Amino acid sequence: MSLTSQSVTAAAEEAISAISSAADLDQLKQVRIDFIGDKSKLAKANQSLGTLSPEQRAEFGKLIGMERAKVNQAFEARKIALEADRDARVLIEERVDVTLPGRRSLKGGLHPLTLLTNEISDLFLGLGYRIAEGPELESEWLSFDALNIPADHPARTMQDTFFVEPLDAKLVLRPHTSPVQIRTMLNEKPPIYIICPGRTYRADELDATHTPVFGQVEGLVVDRGITMADLKGTLDFFARSIFGSDVKTRLRPSFFPFTEPSAEVDFFFRGRWIEWGGCGMVNPKVLQACGIDSDEFTGFAFGMGLERTLMVRHGIADMHDIVEGDIRFSQSFGSGVR
Ligand code: FA5
Ligand code: MG
Repeated sequence: MSLTSQSVTAAAEEAISAISSAADLDQLKQVRIDFIGDKSKLAKANQSLGTLSPEQRAEFGKLIGMERAKVNQAFEARKIALEADRDARVLIEERVDVTLPGRRSLKGGLHPLTLLTNEISDLFLGLGYRIAEGPELESEWLSFDALNIPADHPARTMQDTFFVEPLDAKLVLRPHTSPVQIRTMLNEKPPIYIICPGRTYRADELDATHTPVFGQVEGLVVDRGITMADLKGTLDFFARSIFGSDVKTRLRPSFFPFTEPSAEVDFFFRGRWIEWGGCGMVNPKVLQACGIDSDEFTGFAFGMGLERTLMVRHGIADMHDIVEGDIRFSQSFGSGVR
C-alpha cells in the first residue's frame, strides 16, 4: 500500500465500520485481529513510517496516530456495548424462577413383605434367637430325606417341587425353609434358637391364595427340657405381636414327617379361625440324624407362610396384589415411595 492520507483515513473508516457491524464479542475479537492488530493496514502504515522523510514522517505519524485513536475508541465503545448485551442476555437465559415448585424425586421403599420379614426378625432377635440362612437352590437330600420325608411322598413329585436340571445333580428350588433346620443342627451344638425367613418355591399356579414363589419363616429351638408348652407359648407371643394382643392360637393335630407330634397352628382373628402354618416337636429321628442326643435334647419347630400372614393382617383378598409389584400397593403400606 502506498502511503497517502486517503489510504490512512480509508483504512480507519473500514476498521470503524467493521467494528460497528460486529454483532457479538466473538466477531469483535476477529475485527480486532483484522483491523487493529499487527497485520492490519493501519499497523502496517505505522510500521512504514521509518521509510519516509522526516517531514512526511511527522505528518503521517500524526495522521495515523489520530486515526488509530479513533479506531481504538470505537472499539472500546463497541466492546462495552456488546458486553452489556451479553450480560443482559445471560441474566434472561440463565434465569432461575425460585417460585417454581421443586422437582420431587422418587424415593425407594421396602416392599411390605420385606417390612413384615424385618418385623418378625426383630421380634425373635429380641427373644435371643439368631437369624439363619440357607440357599434357595437346595439339595434334594436336605429338602426331603434329612427331614424324614419318604421317597414316595407326594411333595417329591415334579407336580409339587421344582427339580433343577441336570436331574442327577439332585437339586431343587427349596419347597420350604425346613432344610435350614437341618443345616443348622448339622453345624451347631444345642442350645439352638434360630428363625429363618426366606424365599421358597412350589409348582403351584398363581391364584388368589397361592404363588409359585413365596416366603416362609421357619423357627427352630433345640435345648434341654423343651416341651410343647414352650412351642405354644412362643406361637402365642408371635401371633400376638403380629396380629394384636387379644389374638388366640390353637394347635390342631396334623402330620409332618420331621416333627412328632405335629400340628397345624391356627389363630382366631376377626371372628374366625385361620390356618397359619405347621409346627411340632422335632422328631427324635431327625435330631439323631444330625448327631444330637435325643435323650438329652428336645426341640420344637414351626413354619409359616409370609404372604398369608400379610394377607390376613391387612385384609388383602388377592395374592396377586402382593406379587405383582404395583407400587401403589406398596405405597398404601407407607413404603416410602412417593
Ligand atoms: C411346611 O412347609 C412345613 N415345612 C412347615 C413346618 C415347619 C412344619 C416346621 C413343622 C415344623 P406347609 O406345606 O403346610 O408346611 O406350608 C407352610 C405354609 O406355607 C402354609 O401354611 C402357607 O402359609 C404357606 N404356603 C404353602 N404353599 C404356598 C403357596 N403356594 N403360596 C403361598 N403360601 C404358601
Ligand atoms: Mg399346610
